[in-house]
Amino acid sequence: MKLIYSIRASINYLVYRIIIRPLIFLWEAEYAHNQLKRFGSIVSSSVFGRFVLKSLFYFQHKSLNTTVDGITYNNPIGLSAGFDKDGELTDTYPLIGFGFAELGSFTGDVCPGNPGVGRRLFRLVKSKSILVWYGLNNQGAQSIAKRLKGKKFKIPIGISAAKTNNAASFDLQDSIDDYLKTVNAFTDIGHYYTINISCPNTQDGEPFVDQKNLDELLSALDKTKQECKPVYIKMAADLEINEINTIVDACLKHKIDGLVLTNLTKPSMSDEYLKDELTFDKGALSGLPVQRISTNVIRHVYQRTRGKITIIGVGGVFNAEDAYEKITSGANLIEMITGMIFEGPQVVGEINRGLVELLKKDGFTSIEEAVGSRNPLL
Ligand SMILES: Cc1cc2nc3c(=O)[nH]c(=O)nc-3n(C[C@H](O)[C@H](O)[C@H](O)COP(=O)(O)O)c2cc1C
Repeated sequence: MKLIYSIRASINYLVYRIIIRPLIFLWEAEYAHNQLKRFGSIVSSSVFGRFVLKSLFYFQHKSLNTTVDGITYNNPIGLSAGFDKDGELTDTYPLIGFGFAELGSFTGDVCPGNPGVGRRLFRLVKSKSILVWYGLNNQGAQSIAKRLKGKKFKIPIGISAAKTNNAASFDLQDSIDDYLKTVNAFTDIGHYYTINISCPNTQDGEPFVDQKNLDELLSALDKTKQECKPVYIKMAADLEINEINTIVDACLKHKIDGLVLTNLTKPSMSDEYLKDELTFDKGALSGLPVQRISTNVIRHVYQRTRGKITIIGVGGVFNAEDAYEKITSGANLIEMITGMIFEGPQVVGEINRGLVELLKKDGFTSIEEAVGSRNPLL
């Protein structure tokens, strides 16, 4: 079986890198993103299409099963927020081997995002990164929830809630109400919430890094406590250590279940990309430029929380070693987008296959045993 998986992976990799990726990369990036979603939706709507996707990409192994905050995951590799901004491809992710998917970010009102459709996403191929200037475009929580209501999901689904990006001025109560609109619209849909307080591309900045604002938001979430659903907070990549500590301590105080670490990094905060490839002066970077930053934040937060709350690690995961580094630093689950765009959808199964080997090599029988194993609590 191992040999068959290896041959399948090599063929998939070559087909993606030699034929499919060069063709996709001929398209403007936002257009390509939309076409890929349309293609994925069409393929997974037929029995034959589902059979093909599963045969090409699916991989599973019992050592990858993990339970986090009462939710059972077949494997720890999930899709990160921002790929499926309107929650349209939930049937596709299980077929290509994702253990879970975080949809959104959804906002309280319909949000067109930043102006300049067709000039909001840029690939930095040599830097293995994407410059993102979307600004939270999505159809709005109400209509997305209406469409997804009653749907049976095959894997756990995260609902990412953000504040509608429609004003340069910040109003605390309006902003909190906006988050609550999404939280309330999805009460019966999905398995956990992520509250995204870290979009680097909004008009009013990141006002919930401020301790008082965050405290008010978390208090409002306490009141509408979603009894059976975990709530996570998604943190920015480019925070000072005292800002990280403020957010972590507030999460502990309000009994938030965990943190998603991290969002994109601003070009001015990362050295790990080729400056020549940056052709647009707005937005923030995914992929390799955020890889080291997010792992360092994971290590710090794992120590600060004494491993007591869930960490979802995200940023620059391209292979099993990258995922394992975040897990052994303290992440319970992993999310990704850019790795899938650059390496192809087979990378999800390949990361899981590699994780099985890495666990075995370290003498672990489960993901849980590996979490934080190279970041011992001091
Ligand atoms: C095209 C794109 C759109 C994104 N949109 C969102 C979003 O709406 N909400 C969010 O929390 N993060 C968003 N992100 C950030 C990702 O969820 C993730 O934190 C970041 O890309 C690092 O992971 P990666 O290196 O695996 O892509 C987006 C990222 C990309 C590439």
